[in-house]
Amino acid sequence: MKKGRVAVLLSGRGSNFTAMVRDSRRADANFSIRLVISDQENAPGLRKAAALDIPNYCLPPGKFSGKDAHEKEICALLEREEIELVCLAGYMRLIGPVLLEKFAGRIMNIHPSLLPSFPGLHAQRQALRHGQKISGCTVHFVDSGLDSGPIIAQQAVRVRADDSEDSLSRRILRQEHRIYPRAIRFFFSGRLQILGRTVIMADK
Ligand code: GRF
Repeated sequence: MKKGRVAVLLSGRGSNFTAMVRDSRRADANFSIRLVISDQENAPGLRKAAALDIPNYCLPPGKFSGKDAHEKEICALLEREEIELVCLAGYMRLIGPVLLEKFAGRIMNIHPSLLPSFPGLHAQRQALRHGQKISGCTVHFVDSGLDSGPIIAQQAVRVRADDSEDSLSRRILRQEHRIYPRAIRFFFSGRLQILGRTVIMADK
C-alpha cells in the first residue's frame, strides 16, 4: 500500500507526534511520518524524533528575516520530502500565508477543547474556570485564524468535580492520541471533503 507522507510541526513534548508514529507503524496504517520540524531547539519532541529514526530539523524563527522567510524554509523542507499532509502537534505559532497557500486544505491541528469553545492557550484551564461539564479535544484543518478552521473530529471528555487542570489535561490527552491518528487515516482514505466550514466523509 502506498503510504501518505506526513510532516509534524511541534514546539514541545511531542506526545501526539509519538502517538502518530505508533499508529503509523501498525500493519494497516495508510500513512507514515517522514519529517519533524520544530521552532524550539530544546523541544523534547525533536529528541523523540531522533530516537525514532525520523528526520528532524530545528528552524528557530529568530534566525530568519521574518515570518515569510521562516515559512519558505519550512516549505522547502516539506517539498524536498514530498510531504502531502502537515500535522501541527503543539506547534506554538500561527501559520502564515506562505505555508497556508502551499498546503491549502492539507494542514491539520489538534486542540484540547471542544472548539469553538476555548481556543488559544490553556484551553483546559479555561474550561475548568468556566465550569464546563463536558470538555474534550478537536482535530481541525488550519486556516489563518486561531484554532478556527473546519472541524474534522472531536472527542468529548467528562469534567469531574475534583478535576485539576492537570488531571483533566491528562484525560483529554489520552483522547487526543486516539483521534489525531484516526483523522490522518481519514485524510489519506481520500474521503474527507471540505465544504465551507463543514468536513464530510464521502461514501466509498
Ligand atoms: C496538546 O494538548 C495539543 O492539543 C495542544 O498542545 C499539546 C501538545 O502536546 N495543541 P504534545 O506536545 O503533543 O504532547
